Amino acid sequence: MSGAPVISVEDLHVWFDLADGGELHAVRGISFDLHPGERLGLVGESGCGKTTAILALMGLLPASASVRGRVLLEGSEIMAGGEDTISPHRWKDVAMVFQGAMNAFNPVQRVGKQIAEAMELHGTATGRSARLRVAELLELVGIAGERQDRFPHEFSGGMRQRAAIAMALACDPKVLLADEPTTALDVMVQAQILELLVSLTRDLGLALILITHDLPLIAQVCDRAAVMYAGEIAEIGTVHDLYADPRHPYTRLLFAATPDIYGDDLVVSIPGSPPRLDHEPVGCPFRPRCDAFLERCDTVAPRFRTVAPGRSVTCHNGDPA
Ligand SMILES: Nc1ncnc2c1ncn2[C@@H]1O[C@H](COP(=O)(O)OP(=O)(O)OP(=O)(O)O)[C@@H](O)[C@H]1O
Ligand SMILES: [Mg+2]
Repeated sequence: MSGAPVISVEDLHVWFDLADGGELHAVRGISFDLHPGERLGLVGESGCGKTTAILALMGLLPASASVRGRVLLEGSEIMAGGEDTISPHRWKDVAMVFQGAMNAFNPVQRVGKQIAEAMELHGTATGRSARLRVAELLELVGIAGERQDRFPHEFSGGMRQRAAIAMALACDPKVLLADEPTTALDVMVQAQILELLVSLTRDLGLALILITHDLPLIAQVCDRAAVMYAGEIAEIGTVHDLYADPRHPYTRLLFAATPDIYGDDLVVSIPGSPPRLDHEPVGCPFRPRCDAFLERCDTVAPRFRTVAPGRSVTCHNGDPA
């Protein structure tokens, strides 16, 4: 992609304090750029740090978390000053559709009012202009504007998910983070929601990070994908390159794994499981499951290195160093 990235993440780490006094290193130094209008998929087995990474970009991690690294929004660092520097950008520049967002509406309050409240909270619109803007947002996601006076139970699951997306768009963000936005929706509705996300990136120039376990879905929707493993980016590149020429054994195995019959989860047929992150792994964290390991993988952690423009991998294979 040419031009300047809208958001750049540089060596982002997240640790959680644990009740037993220990620490869990959930995100272990990830870096990537995202350009306006671009759609980046974030994939990887459960617990690899996908949600934690994007919550860090929103500054929405719990108090037990500590972060390190840089997040640049249109070139300006927004994370170093903590809440003071990140909160002016939350929802206004970087917005999120949470895992299970469609179930997060207050059942006794009209949908439109809940979206309007988000705008009033951020001072982007109030009163009548908020009502008009809510109608506009609902239309944008394919819901008739007058339906804003309905209650959440009067919406289907797909409509509630559209409304959750409309709510995230309320303050006109530049980056949308969507955490499994189609889980629990049937295949037809899922396709419509994905189409909506694609059209928003095209029409509004919105940059999208889409988290999902569903690799075929990434292939349909995203330009690029980052494969996460044990809190790191194992590999990042165009979806085409990851399928056609995976450089990390995990990418290869993951992309060869098959979705289950319900199509909403990945049956990871890779033997073994990811390492626990409450102890720093020695050597490569993927080594116990790898079918292409080298001697140094036992003791030396591979570095995240760029192998081609826009293409990076955390693997000793092919690394002359
Ligand atoms: N508040 C927390 N306190 C302690 N550990 C946490 C907390 N939140 C997440 N973790 C741990 O951090 C790691 C990453 O979790 P995260 O939820 O980011 O994974 P994920 O990739 O989003 O998984 P999933 O696909 O299941 O949603 C896991 O080991 C998880 O147990
Ligand atoms: Mg998650």
